[in-house]
Amino acid sequence: MGVCGYLFLPWKCLVVVSLRLLFLVPTGVPVRSGDATFPKAMDNVTVRQGESATLRCTIDDRVTRVAWLNRSTILYAGNDKWSIDPRVIILVNTPTQYSIMIQNVDVYDEGPYTCSVQTDNHPKTSRVHLIVQVPPQIMNISSDITVNEGSSVTLLCLAIGRPEPTVTWRHLSVKEGQGFVSEDEYLEISDIKRDQSGEYECSALNDVAAPDVRRVKITVNYPPYISKAKNTGVSVGQKGTLSCEASAVPTAEFQWFKEDTRLATGLDGMRIENKGRISTLTFFNVSEKDYGNYTCVATNKLGNTNASITLYEISPSSAVAGPGAVIDGVNSASRALACLWLSGTLFAHFFIKF
Ligand SMILES: *[C@@H]1O[C@H](CO)[C@@H](O)[C@H](O)[C@H]1NC(C)=O
Ligand SMILES: *[C@@H]1O[C@H](CO)[C@@H](O)[C@H](O)[C@H]1NC(C)=O
Ligand SMILES: *[C@@H]1O[C@H](CO)[C@@H](O)[C@H](O)[C@H]1NC(C)=O
Ligand SMILES: *[C@@H]1O[C@H](CO)[C@@H](O)[C@H](O)[C@H]1NC(C)=O
Ligand SMILES: *[C@@H]1O[C@H](CO)[C@@H](O)[C@H](O)[C@H]1NC(C)=O
Ligand SMILES: *[C@@H]1O[C@H](CO)[C@@H](O)[C@H](O)[C@H]1NC(C)=O
Repeated sequence: MGVCGYLFLPWKCLVVVSLRLLFLVPTGVPVRSGDATFPKAMDNVTVRQGESATLRCTIDDRVTRVAWLNRSTILYAGNDKWSIDPRVIILVNTPTQYSIMIQNVDVYDEGPYTCSVQTDNHPKTSRVHLIVQVPPQIMNISSDITVNEGSSVTLLCLAIGRPEPTVTWRHLSVKEGQGFVSEDEYLEISDIKRDQSGEYECSALNDVAAPDVRRVKITVNYPPYISKAKNTGVSVGQKGTLSCEASAVPTAEFQWFKEDTRLATGLDGMRIENKGRISTLTFFNVSEKDYGNYTCVATNKLGNTNASITLYEISPSSAVAGPGAVIDGVNSASRALACLWLSGTLFAHFFIKF
């Protein structure tokens, strides 16, 4: 029967059969006497994988035979070791207690263990469950990924642990508290938008140990979009700069045109400089022929866009005052004052004459 199936030595098998006849090996329904507290095994035992579990059974001096069983397999009968597993050792065998220890517990050790005793020729058993916990661990997670805007993305985060860990995904690149995006091993984003790019964090949580946390980066490609292109006024002989700012992933490359002519550094005392999102076209010494419309073209592998920017002439005086609305404001205010003063003197002059 079951018992012998687990044992390899025939003489032990024989002994089991005789043990069964004699006293304590349970044959199906565990024997529960009216004395519910005896033999008293401890409550369920919970240990982490890799730790040791102690199985304790409280007895008294009426007990004549004792054994600990793993399901229907005898581990120890009295001081005799039946298990061939070196991790199983006996701790205590006294008239009041009978305990064994399982070292380096693994998940397959989980299950019911039975303390079986014989008292006054009556077999009795007490059952304890060994529960094995495993800290959460992420086993398989998606790699960093680059996609085009509008496509669908599925991220995967597989975790093990006992109890089964809860897996959540969070978008880190958004404000605190708005980041929970999925309470599942799978994070699915359909029609992904550029603001959904960034770091995503997978967290596997059970109450055994600290959560296991890993990150995945999603890069969302999108075609260039020119966010800043401002017309600029410069007077002849001054330095003038046109600038064009484009957001794009991957970063845009820039070209400058005047009418149909592509411009390049070195032509007619101009220079083109590209720094990240911004391209500038600089004229070192603006002359009349430089005024006009320029086109900035921003291109990446997803497309291109352009903007027209005008370099226009301003009078040298306001150029000396410098650029910007504030300076301009001061300028007109002082002009108005001068005007007032002038009209005042003219008025006085008029009166003195008559
Ligand atoms: C208990 O029994 C299970 C199932 O047969 C086995 O996998 C496990 O190794 C046993 N554990 C001990 C400590 O005997
Ligand atoms: C012991 O564990 C078993 C199986 O998990 C469960 O059915 C039983 O209620 C538990 N007993 C106690 C006292 O926690
Ligand atoms: C992770 O999961 C994917 C999808 O289920 C599978 O193709 C891949 O082989 C797994 N990798 C590892 C290391 O388990
Ligand atoms: C700018 O160009 C004009 C005419 O071509 C020239 O007379 C002037 O010296 C130049 N100024 C500078 C600073 O190079
Ligand atoms: C320059 O562009 C502006 C607006 O895009 C347009 O109104 C104007 O006619 C253009 N000027 C020239 C000289 O092409
Ligand atoms: C600018 O864009 C318009 C329409 O988007 C296109 O017709 C034109 O050819 C572009 N100009 C350049 C210089 O690329």
